[in-house]
Amino acid sequence: MKFFIDTADLADIRDLAETGLVDGVTTNPSLAAKAGMKFTDLVKEICDVVPGPVSAEVTAPDHATMMREADHLRKIADNVCIKVPLTPDGLKTCRKLADDGTMVNVTLCFSPAQAILAAKAGAAFVSPFVGRLDDIGQDGLGLIAEIVSIYANYLDIGTEVLVASVRHPIHVTESAKLGAHVATMPPKVLRQLYNHPLTDKGLAAFTADWEKSGLKILED
Ligand code: G3P
Repeated sequence: MKFFIDTADLADIRDLAETGLVDGVTTNPSLAAKAGMKFTDLVKEICDVVPGPVSAEVTAPDHATMMREADHLRKIADNVCIKVPLTPDGLKTCRKLADDGTMVNVTLCFSPAQAILAAKAGAAFVSPFVGRLDDIGQDGLGLIAEIVSIYANYLDIGTEVLVASVRHPIHVTESAKLGAHVATMPPKVLRQLYNHPLTDKGLAAFTADWEKSGLKILED
């Protein structure tokens, strides 16, 4: 499973890129608004730090302007992935960009039918939002199961299921069990994945025993 981080915070992106665990970055207009810098400069900086796909979202509602925005964004770096909303204009834009060889992430997917449309439009990624479905009492992970199983019926579907709106580690592990290709998670969730109290307890005991023994790995 690939790990993307869902943030526009450059400090977090730089820090987590150092772990070697980050395969890409997703941003959205709300995250970008918090970054406090020119959007195109932000996208360039993120693309310099993380070589994998960096999703940058168009914000116009209509196809013609989406195409102009996408054209501007895709020139920033080879690893820019254009993010479009799951609307008729967004999918028309997706088809056109995909036919030009541009990676597209179709976002705001909340149903299996929408995911089928994204695949037909040639999306590199479809982003179902698990957390926002859970928030309204629907089954976010159930949607992932449905999309993964539908896509598996068709060998010609190249669209990857990118689990978005991830709120906690269980969203990540359950998505991995279901065979989702990618999870994009806030930095906090990626950091939570390391944690287990028995790891901390075990390490403290090993360290204490080692220090008492006077043993060394590196001789002075
Ligand atoms: O970037 C899209 C998605 O991951 C947003 O998540 O937490 O705002 O529902 P959230």
